[in-house]
Amino acid sequence: MNPSDTLAARLAPHPPPRPQPPYEDPASLPVSGGAGQADPAEAEDFIRMHHREHPDQPHSLHARLQEIQRQIRDTGTYRHSSAELAFGARVAWRNSSRCIGRLYWNSLQVLDRRDATAPEEIHQHLITHLRQGTNGGRIRPVISVFAPDVPGRPSPRVWNDQLIRYAGYRQEDGSVTGDPAYADFTELVQRMGWNAPGGAFDVLPLVISTHDTKPQLFDVPADAVLEVPLSHPEHPWFADLELRWHALPAISNMRLRIGGLDYPLAPFNGWYMGTEIGARNLVDEGRYDLLPLIATRLGLDTDSETSLWRDRALVELNVAVLHSFNEAGARISDHHTESRRFLTHLEKEQRAGRTVPADWTWIVPPLSGGITPVFHRYYDQADQRPNFYLDDQARDLGRGQCPYHGG
Ligand code: ARG
Repeated sequence: MNPSDTLAARLAPHPPPRPQPPYEDPASLPVSGGAGQADPAEAEDFIRMHHREHPDQPHSLHARLQEIQRQIRDTGTYRHSSAELAFGARVAWRNSSRCIGRLYWNSLQVLDRRDATAPEEIHQHLITHLRQGTNGGRIRPVISVFAPDVPGRPSPRVWNDQLIRYAGYRQEDGSVTGDPAYADFTELVQRMGWNAPGGAFDVLPLVISTHDTKPQLFDVPADAVLEVPLSHPEHPWFADLELRWHALPAISNMRLRIGGLDYPLAPFNGWYMGTEIGARNLVDEGRYDLLPLIATRLGLDTDSETSLWRDRALVELNVAVLHSFNEAGARISDHHTESRRFLTHLEKEQRAGRTVPADWTWIVPPLSGGITPVFHRYYDQADQRPNFYLDDQARDLGRGQCPYHGG
């Protein structure tokens, strides 16, 4: 399995399966008018929204709209002010229908990296992002926004789907050491010259390419990656399994769409909800697939489904994840707390007169769904912009297909 298969898997609804409206297939979304052409109507909508939500702008709405119209007419594109960029990135988060953690959308830190062009410089900014987002464990939501696609100059790209992910190594017996979802990507970076340590939790190098440069490998320095060794509050043997996970989820393959412009490289991070690690990354059959091992160590009867050995192992694994992150001083939240926060977010947004688009199949946690309040209701579904999209190009990058140079 390769990372894009996993992305596809992540796109597949968890139960209950439902027909997907066409807008839900990110591949079906227009990238933009032509290559790098800004969409004037979308630009206008966005600028109006910005003025509506922030009436205190230095320039008049009318003047700004005219200026943008002229820029698009002359160059095919336009440049967002820093305030527009920050607002656009925050609203893109606010509109992300799959994210349960949107209560703090307005506190997203936006790092404006639009002027970075060389791969080395981009790499440095990405590492700064990791440090700033990690913040010694007191994780803060951060986004770094690099140059948008403009006519004649596609934006730089990072091929990794997250800034921090673990390698997966296919073994001769067909098993995988590490994260099977990254086996293809691992082979790709090995072909590019990565000297793989061969362990179960090796942080993959970054692949960065720009319009002018072929893909290049960059290491992620160990001191920029906070990792948490997993232990269990009641089972001392758990620590001997030598499991760990990284504290920062930093998605790097989603296109940020603001006001008719595409920012294909705009990595962002939040903090983890425990179930992402304890009920998916370490559990899915196409990932670390650890339930059988943990159930056996717990002494459960794995021959009978009715012993609920999977469920019992799953709960203990999630206890271990939350316990270990708390011990390590790495910010994490449990699914009950995060569900309540999401309902608070819905109320707040409703008071502000805004719709909160949400995808039930993604919002409901993969553990104990029915005992979280987010389960017992329906949500509005809408593709509101600004937003983040996962498009074909990102999928191709994950498969190692370079958008500029082929192969
Ligand atoms: N589920 C993904 C992972 O486990 C991360 C997605 C973003 N999650 C977040 N808490 N911001 O790596």
